[in-house]
Amino acid sequence: MGKALTFLGIESSCDDTAAAVVRLAPDGSGAILSSVVEGQAALHAPFGGVVPEIAARAHAEKLDHAIEAALSAALVTLSDLDGIAVTAGPGLIGGILSGLMLAKGLCAATGLPMVGVNHLAGHALTPRLTDGIGFPYLMLLVSGGHCQFLMVRGPEEFHRLGSTIDDAPGEAFDKVAKLMGLPQPGGPAVEAEAAAGDPLRFRLPRPLLDRPGCDLSFSGLKTAVLRARDEVVAAKGGLTVQDRRDLCAGFQAAVADVLAEKTGRALALCPVPVIAVAGGVAANGMIRARLEAVARAAGVQFLAPPLKLCTDNAAMIAWAGIERFRLGHCDGPELAARSRWPLDATAVPLIGSGKRGAKA
Ligand code: KG4
Ligand code: ZN
Repeated sequence: MGKALTFLGIESSCDDTAAAVVRLAPDGSGAILSSVVEGQAALHAPFGGVVPEIAARAHAEKLDHAIEAALSAALVTLSDLDGIAVTAGPGLIGGILSGLMLAKGLCAATGLPMVGVNHLAGHALTPRLTDGIGFPYLMLLVSGGHCQFLMVRGPEEFHRLGSTIDDAPGEAFDKVAKLMGLPQPGGPAVEAEAAAGDPLRFRLPRPLLDRPGCDLSFSGLKTAVLRARDEVVAAKGGLTVQDRRDLCAGFQAAVADVLAEKTGRALALCPVPVIAVAGGVAANGMIRARLEAVARAAGVQFLAPPLKLCTDNAAMIAWAGIERFRLGHCDGPELAARSRWPLDATAVPLIGSGKRGAKA
């Protein structure tokens, strides 16, 4: 039996300002005492994407409030904490700095230890918080900014099996939604259209399936959707409701096919008892069902944490901080913010993968 630990987590690496309090019980299980996420979607909506300067300023304005709300919802004060975990990268540097400077100030004032956390490690370690699973396991991160297969062997031991070489899948969903005149974020809108569409009408590519390995690519698929749309528009003078549904269904089926095939390959490369997913794209019913089927066929348990813990949040940062702290790690005031920070330092860097800076 270990010691109980209570950590405040702070997350500000993209467009969610988040704070949470997480407690590790002596038996090793974790409990989320509070998790506050203040999104910035309305601030960025007029620009059609996340504007880094606006995000950084919004984090600086909202963080105090999010932290106070998280402490009060958890019924704790700063003096009840054993440490503060903060995202130190990767992501948009202005936002990361807002959170990091605040954490440094709080730790200097209270004497609490500070633990810098890699945002991707936060996602990757979430199934240990939600389901108490042991190492090793396979993690598929699929969101608007991330896309990678990770073999997780320990709180700081990650092996990247594959990654997108261009866009992240959520980014592709968002771009396809834009092409169809659908609202942002595009994933849920495209999924809703696809439900009434024919996935076989448009012949869309399955990028990189012809190459060995687990790397992925979504940029060409998005361009193929653009071409197919333009052909219909040129022939008919516009898109009917059914054209739009069929294009969305074809695109979603292509993403699902690629993710399912590459997941099968990752499981074949790394026989593990569990595969977990994280990221907003894991909310997609068809994609989730396909991944679950691949896991079942391989005799592997499939885990998808509740959606609010799949997407960006600070509970995962607090938990990853606790995991690092238990290994004896603690950071000083010199801790730097990093826009890029690969989890697997030995993996070949993939420049330009994903839109939001959190690429590694
Ligand atoms: O993890 P997340 O909330 O934020 C980051 O990107 O870090 O993921 C958001 C992404 C967006 O690109 C959104 O379009 C996508 O996840 N998404 C979906 C669905 N719900 C959200 N993609 C496909 N199907 C969905 N149902
Ligand atoms: Zn994230």
